[in-house]
Amino acid sequence: MKIPFLDLKLQYLNLKDEIDKSIAEVIDQTSFIGGEQVSKFANEFSSSYGVEKTVPLANGTDALYIAMKMLGIGPGDEVITTATSWISTSETISQTGAKPVFVDIDEYFTIDARKIESQINKNTKAIIPVHLYGQMCDMNEIMRISSKYNISVIEDCAQSHFSELDNKLAGSWGKCGTFSFYPGKNLGAFGDAGALITNDIDFAEKCRIYASHGAPVKHNHIMEGINSRMDTMQAAVLRVKLKHIKNWTESRIEISNIYMNLLSDIHEIELPIVRSNSKHTFHVFAIRTSMRDELKSYLEERGIPTQIHYPFAMPFMPAYKGHDQNKSLFNNAKLHQETELSLPIFPEMTKEQVEYVYMNICDFFKIK
Ligand SMILES: Cc1ncc(COP(=O)(O)O)c(C=O)c1O
Repeated sequence: MKIPFLDLKLQYLNLKDEIDKSIAEVIDQTSFIGGEQVSKFANEFSSSYGVEKTVPLANGTDALYIAMKMLGIGPGDEVITTATSWISTSETISQTGAKPVFVDIDEYFTIDARKIESQINKNTKAIIPVHLYGQMCDMNEIMRISSKYNISVIEDCAQSHFSELDNKLAGSWGKCGTFSFYPGKNLGAFGDAGALITNDIDFAEKCRIYASHGAPVKHNHIMEGINSRMDTMQAAVLRVKLKHIKNWTESRIEISNIYMNLLSDIHEIELPIVRSNSKHTFHVFAIRTSMRDELKSYLEERGIPTQIHYPFAMPFMPAYKGHDQNKSLFNNAKLHQETELSLPIFPEMTKEQVEYVYMNICDFFKIK
């Protein structure tokens, strides 16, 4: 059997008629930037999140950058974030001129909120918790710290569409939530796309203007900005997919439960722990094992692709070689980079496919 890591083709085929029609309409209207599809997507996304505003953007990296710029973050400032993430989270901090300050991860693979306070000083302007793999950070503690020190929170929700903690959605806790709709994300476009959600209407408007060359209306540039508009075609695709995301999320959770039940008797494997009172949306099903590299090759040879998220934690990444933080602060992130393995997971995955992965893991560990 051959199993894909995720099956975007199958997802497309299941929605082909709707998606093709939606794209054909955009072409027919030859309205490729902005327009009705983009504003409708923004409204629909806002109502599915119960927030005031969605700012549609070109990608999730820009969403982070724009949020920080519009919070006035710049040279001399520090922004605290997790040691384990995709580089967008920290590279955008540096791009504003501020310094990324990394904090180790906890047993849930998200920023260890207990270690944030010791990193705060007079230059700290924001915290960017990343709800990694679909698992929410300890937002109660992070919001407590945020109000104690008057520091903004930007939630990086690129991997956590519709994740919840205490019945509250990821992205609705802090000043804003930033999203990626990169094709492989739980809600993915047919190219790059992103968004920012917030309940602060003025802040949303500032972000919208900045993303549109600093112009509230064409040719009236009240500031210099950037070009980060969501393509109309992407909005058209996302509007179709948004109707299915709740079902897809439930499927991901079901698949993760099957994995959890099957794999729980393999003691060589550490399974993901779901934070209590939370909805983990399993963008990634991450296990840990000291035999990671051997298991990865073994599965690969048997038609099971896996990935490593991520081979380097940020403090150990060549890009942060000159960074002045002590590497001994990141023991959990280091262990994670050495042992993490992401197994295939996607909403259309069948029980048989999950069992095939399980059987091959059993074979690898010589479990009968
Ligand atoms: C945690 C995290 N933040 C930010 C991003 C950036 O999103 P985009 O690729 O849409 O720029 C990603 C995308 O992979 C991500 O995983």
